[in-house]
Amino acid sequence: MYTEAVMDHFSNPRNVGEIKDADGVGEAGNPVCGDIMRIYVKIEDQRIVDIKFKTFGCGAAIATSSILTEMVKGKTIAEAEKVTNRAVAEALGGLPPHKMHCSNLAADALHKALDAYRQSHLQFTAGEADSSSAIG
Ligand code: FES
Repeated sequence: MYTEAVMDHFSNPRNVGEIKDADGVGEAGNPVCGDIMRIYVKIEDQRIVDIKFKTFGCGAAIATSSILTEMVKGKTIAEAEKVTNRAVAEALGGLPPHKMHCSNLAADALHKALDAYRQSHLQFTAGEADSSSAIG
């Protein structure tokens, strides 16, 4: 009932863990089952240079987290933002209908991590602008 890709990523998940000095952290939860996924990103020059995940959830959620990290590692923020939950499920060759909801966590958590990066980066940039205008 699961594709080989799902079983592979569930059995050998890639990029598991956390990034201590992450530039952005995003979390998504499934209110129905209570499962939670957390994504950590490291950004350099607007590109995801490292990504890790921690998923407290079912096998499908772990597989979607794992393949998502492979899909976006090395991609620009703009490219990563275009990755949808559907694309993640398709990259796994699909999920059984009753497990499709599990794939809704991965891209959501990634997008939240990128939002968190953007917000902290914008604040930093604004702070820099303030201080330079104060000096000038
Ligand atoms: Fe909760 Fe799959 S059953 S994410």
